[in-house]
Amino acid sequence: MSTTAAFDGQSQLPRHVAIIMDGNGRWAEQRGKLRVSGHKAGVKAVRDAVTFAYKLKLDALTLFAFSSENWRRPQDEVSALMGLFVAVLGSEVRKLHRNNIRLRIIGDRSAFSASLQGKIADAEQLTANNSGLTLNIAANYGGRWDITQACRQLAEQVAGGDLLPEQIDERLLGAHLTLAEQAPVDLLIRTGGEQRISNFLLWQLAYAELYFTPVLWPDFGEESFSEAIAAFVGRERRFGCTGAQIRALVTKQP
Ligand code: IPE
Ligand code: IPE
Ligand code: MG
Repeated sequence: MSTTAAFDGQSQLPRHVAIIMDGNGRWAEQRGKLRVSGHKAGVKAVRDAVTFAYKLKLDALTLFAFSSENWRRPQDEVSALMGLFVAVLGSEVRKLHRNNIRLRIIGDRSAFSASLQGKIADAEQLTANNSGLTLNIAANYGGRWDITQACRQLAEQVAGGDLLPEQIDERLLGAHLTLAEQAPVDLLIRTGGEQRISNFLLWQLAYAELYFTPVLWPDFGEESFSEAIAAFVGRERRFGCTGAQIRALVTKQP
């Protein structure tokens, strides 16, 4: 695994895109509807984004669906979001499987009901060997939780006598984070106009390009997604090098 993406001299398209799907509530409020109808409209945008990522042949798409802070929302909105999650999981998994998509749920599952945890495990198991797009859904996810759970795993190994503190380095800690075995995140998109990370992937975004758009998530279709990809392709990614070094690397490619 690699937490710092390496320039490979040829890839123009991102391999791994992460999206903070924000703006469902405002989309609904603008239409005089309840916030939950915005979340329902957001599900369609999720389908469209997955289809587009599949067509682009991305390795991975990671979607922020529910943050560890979203429990603070009114009880009825939290219940509606959980209900939608369960319903969508039930209705979409077979379709994902038919399209060779591997589904992963990242986040702290211990807060979910036993029945939802079972459904998540079944969906992951069914799609585990699919070799197309990997779709990661971040549910009860927090970047700080992720780093903390990785630290706890290492601390347990130290306490058990299987690891020495001096063996802990960035590579080992990174290997215990979610998404460790996947391509590094190249591009983070946030819809809805806010320009913050909101405790999404913290470690994993170290070298990601950040793209913010005012488009509200339910309106984020193929056109908006392709604009984000075009902006990424048009940017010069340096990974701490100079542009000249990158260009020299490219000319060295066979
Ligand atoms: C994002 O939309 C979806 C979730 C956080 C689940 P919001 O519900 O945050 O929409 P706004 O930001 O209030 O418009
Ligand atoms: C981030 O959106 C979380 C998700 C999209 C799931 P929020 O709407 O919860 O973030 P804040 O509260 O504006 O930072
Ligand atoms: Mg929001």
